Amino acid sequence: MKTKHLTNLRKDLTSLSDVTKAELEAWFELAGRLKKELKAGKTHHLLAGKNLAMIFQKSSTRTRVSFEIAMRQLGGGGLYLSGNELQLGRGETIADTAQVLSRYCDGIMARVYAHSDIATLAKHASVPVINGLSDFSHPCQAVADYLTVLEHKGRLQGLTLAYVGDGNNVAHSLLYGGAKLGVSVTIVCPKGYEPQKAVVDRAESDGRQTGARVLVTNDVSAVKGADVVYTDVWASMGQEKEHEERVRIFKPYQVNDRLMAMTGKNDALFMHCLPAHRGEEVTDEVVDSPNSVVFDEAENRLHAQKAILVSLMAGR
Ligand code: CP
Ligand code: NVA
Repeated sequence: MKTKHLTNLRKDLTSLSDVTKAELEAWFELAGRLKKELKAGKTHHLLAGKNLAMIFQKSSTRTRVSFEIAMRQLGGGGLYLSGNELQLGRGETIADTAQVLSRYCDGIMARVYAHSDIATLAKHASVPVINGLSDFSHPCQAVADYLTVLEHKGRLQGLTLAYVGDGNNVAHSLLYGGAKLGVSVTIVCPKGYEPQKAVVDRAESDGRQTGARVLVTNDVSAVKGADVVYTDVWASMGQEKEHEERVRIFKPYQVNDRLMAMTGKNDALFMHCLPAHRGEEVTDEVVDSPNSVVFDEAENRLHAQKAILVSLMAGR
C-alpha cells in the first residue's frame, strides 16, 4: 500500500491548531483505504516491528483499545503504561520519561490532565508524541469525528455542526478541525462554560480561509439548521467534584428529541465522543435513534489513528 506522500509530515500530534487541511484530508484518505481493506480481510504491516508507548493518567476504553489494536494490525505493538505505576507517579519528570521511552519505543501516545505535559513530552522525546486527550484538547477524537461526518454526509465543506454542552477539550478540537475543513461550528453552552477565547479566535481566523463560521452562544435555538448535533459529558475526567452543580446548570442543554427537532432537519446526525452519561447530556431515545452515529465514531478512532500513526511513525 502506497503511503509515501503521507510520511514525515510532522513529528507530533499535540493539537489540531497547527494541522493543515491537506494533512487532515490525507488522514481521511488513508483511514478510508485501511478501513475498506480491513473489512475485506486485509491488513497492512506499515509499522512492522514498531512499538508505541501508551501513557494513561486517566481512564479510557476507546483510546486504549483502538491504539493498541491499531498498532497490532499495522504489524507493531502498543504498550499500556499506567501513569500511577510508572515512576512518573513517584516524581520522575516528564522530560526524563520522554527521553527514556524514546530509547525503547518508536512513538508515545499520552492521555494526561495538564496539556503542558503533552508539550513537554513532545519537546523532550526524539520519537513522535500523540495527544490521546488532555484537559485542553482531544485531536484524535476530532479527526475520527470529521471522518465519520464525511462518510455519512459525503462532504464536509459547507456543513454546520452544533456542539451543545461544555466548552471543553472535545469542543476545542472540533472547533480547530471544523474551521480548517470548512465546517461551521456553533457552540451552545451555559454562561461561564464557553470554550477558551484563544481557540475561538483561531477557529474564526482559519474559518475566514475556508468559509466556516464560528458562533458561541448560550441560546439553544441556535441549533436550527445544524447538520450535526454533538454533545459530551457535562463533567469531564478530573471535574467529578463539580458533577452535581453541573447537572443543575446544564439541564436546559440536554440533547433530547425536542432539541434534535429544533434543527429542523430529519437527517441531522447525532454525535458523541463517548462515554455517554445517558439521561444527563443525552437521552436514550437520541443515542439509540437511527440518526445516531456514535458507534461509527468509536470505530473510526481505530481507522483514523492508524492513518495518524503511519504518517508520524513510518519511514522514521
Ligand atoms: N472518546 C474517548 O476518548 O473515549 P475513552 O475515554 O474511552 O478513551
Ligand atoms: N470531555 C471528556 C471526554 C472523554 C473522552 C473528558 O475529558 O472526560
